[in-house]
Amino acid sequence: MSSQTDNHPAVTLTTLREMKQRGEKIACLTAYDASFASLLEVAGVDVLLVGDSLGMVVQGHASTLPVSVADMVYHTAAVSRACSRSLIIVDMPFMADALPQQALESAAALMKEGGAQVVKLEGGAVMVETVSLLSARGIPVCAHLGLMPQSVNKLGGYRVQGRDDESAHRILEDAQLLEKAGADLLLLECVPSALAEKIVQAVQVPVIGIGAGAGCDGQVLVLYDMLGVTQGKTPKFVRNFMQDAESISDAVERYVSAVKEGAYPAPEHSFS
Ligand code: KIV
Repeated sequence: MSSQTDNHPAVTLTTLREMKQRGEKIACLTAYDASFASLLEVAGVDVLLVGDSLGMVVQGHASTLPVSVADMVYHTAAVSRACSRSLIIVDMPFMADALPQQALESAAALMKEGGAQVVKLEGGAVMVETVSLLSARGIPVCAHLGLMPQSVNKLGGYRVQGRDDESAHRILEDAQLLEKAGADLLLLECVPSALAEKIVQAVQVPVIGIGAGAGCDGQVLVLYDMLGVTQGKTPKFVRNFMQDAESISDAVERYVSAVKEGAYPAPEHSFS
């Protein structure tokens, strides 16, 4: 359970909102187990995301679709046992939020059994009713827009979203609708930097980006990508922080510094 000490106050939604207002960047990484969660927290990572990417990088599936609520509870519990400072966001797995009432029950399991502090769900206008319900019941929500990996089959692959005027306008509109419905955070994946900047300006809530350029209020990467563990081709937005590092802790500290200083992502990690 998160606690607060004088030197290392626990990161809360208020902390993240204040960071946005001050222009201080938020450093986020995925975590799936206690050992890495503890290392990331000590290295200064503000937010740990128990992503359903665990279906691919831990379980070896070809997509995130097979991940269950029970899987997410198991990994979230491991992460939350190791953490006292970093805020823990947890993915709602595929179709665990297909209906608002079902989303409420899934979120309750992630929070009660796992220790999630915020739940992340994928989807635009279609999720407004669900976000309203969760928010009204005191459940913090991060809304995931842009490339939504749970929709990979509909999207025809892992592609940059919002490149044409119509889809860019829809993503911006969705961001505003979801904020109005009660979303506390937004996550933008693989959208052009200019669109992400527009959204950051248009909403009050912090916007965390992955492949969304340096203008976002914070950055997230899949841990195994930024440590160079992932085999084969990694996406353009990934930087391998192990390359110049002496240890895993050093690589994570370098990531945190690069995000805070605005050195990562660089233009070569971004889309236009
Ligand atoms: O599941 C995950 O790790 C994510 C990130 C790619 C943002 O949602």
